[in-house]
Amino acid sequence: MVSTHPTGVKHAGSQYLPQRSSTNAISPNQELLPLTAKVNSSDSLEIGGCDVTTLVQQFGSPLYILDEETLRTACQQYRDTFKQYYQGESQVLYASKAWNCLAVCAIANSEGLGIDVASGGELYTALTAGVSPDKIYYHGNNKSRAELLYAIETGVNIVADNWYELQTLVELAQQQQPVRILLRLTPGIDCHTHDYIRTGHLDSKFGFDPGDLDEVFTYVSQQVALNCVGVHAHIGSQIFERQPHRDLAALMVQWLTKAASYGLTLTELDVGGGLGITYTESDDPPSIEEWVKPICEVIQEACAAENLPLPKLLCEPGRSLIATACVTAYTIGSSKTIPDIRTYVAIDGGMSDNPRPITYQSVYRAVVANKMSAPLTEKVTIAGKHCESGDVLIKDALLPKTQPGDILVVMGTGAYNYSMASNYNRLPRPAAVLVANGEANLILQRETYQDLIRQDRLPERLKS
Ligand SMILES: Cc1ncc(COP(=O)(O)O)c(C=O)c1O
Repeated sequence: MVSTHPTGVKHAGSQYLPQRSSTNAISPNQELLPLTAKVNSSDSLEIGGCDVTTLVQQFGSPLYILDEETLRTACQQYRDTFKQYYQGESQVLYASKAWNCLAVCAIANSEGLGIDVASGGELYTALTAGVSPDKIYYHGNNKSRAELLYAIETGVNIVADNWYELQTLVELAQQQQPVRILLRLTPGIDCHTHDYIRTGHLDSKFGFDPGDLDEVFTYVSQQVALNCVGVHAHIGSQIFERQPHRDLAALMVQWLTKAASYGLTLTELDVGGGLGITYTESDDPPSIEEWVKPICEVIQEACAAENLPLPKLLCEPGRSLIATACVTAYTIGSSKTIPDIRTYVAIDGGMSDNPRPITYQSVYRAVVANKMSAPLTEKVTIAGKHCESGDVLIKDALLPKTQPGDILVVMGTGAYNYSMASNYNRLPRPAAVLVANGEANLILQRETYQDLIRQDRLPERLKS
């Protein structure tokens, strides 16, 4: 996939640009750069009609740049593909743990998506963004009593994860209307992804064990305080295989049949998220359509075979909705060459704005935004600026010759970057802009040094 100039020299920017085909809809999760990416006449990367180098001059660096068109296209593809292939009702939820903030929740909401939240803070953000409580689904393996009460009072759907939670809900719900819940079950389905993001195998902290199904259905069917409407499962993240979700869909229909034998009419089936994206040229995930279609087919066939009415079908993608829509722009600073070993090129961010490489050994690709067609002559290691040897964003990146002040753009940073960002080494968290049609709007302000000490308290006796 790397384009080679007639001289034999590899060229930088263009090999990562979206590959548009006139016949097939482009699936954002299969691209490296956002759909609007192009190289302009100044040889600079442009996203959403905005020159990335100019954006950095305007908003500073590091800078998350979120392309609205790519995000909306992914939302629409999920939503419309379910409509096309599923004869029952469907609802796509955005798994907002990927990137939970007001603007992103508002965009997903405006495309008709609901929101999956995993904490009181994510719930608060989704509600503040204007998402209707009936389209919010609240997950988590250890929601606090205060969080559960907040969820009950605001009337959102609660995905009950364990016995402790069911019992707490029964207790808290006594004065209120029956609480609308789904049950999270561990399907025992394995898939090939990083251990930390695999959740569907039996040894997982999430969900009820399938061996407990009879007991759980018996308990739930006897509680007037609970209105159990469905089942949920999520088998992991960054999944390229197609079979695990087919197996999951078939298994979940069996759960509906079993529930019916306990007098529980479950009308919702949530297959979770997990579709992978292209972080490097060697990644080959299915398209959104290739992921959605077989799930719809399997559920329809299994329901027909079991003589069950079609449930409302939900799914909750995070990464495949938003990762490709965003890039992070950094400014290059110092470098260090260790003869016969490697050259480090340092940027002004690192593990605090993108903890995925140090946490999951994730691999990224980068371009130099102000030198998009310069030949790729250097193999360098992109180091962050933190006091941590492991703070490396990309090993052996193929780049043009760089100098301090150049703008390095790392692709595919929309998911699990800002949402996992920290203030390690007391670095202020970067700003984020939303770009569309040549306009850039600030959606997350850059933190200041004052923000960093806002929660600090200095006891009187320590004041000098
Ligand atoms: C319960 C649940 N649903 C949905 C998701 C979203 O997964 P992904 O971003 O891989 O689509 C996750 C993330 O791991 C999750 O834990």
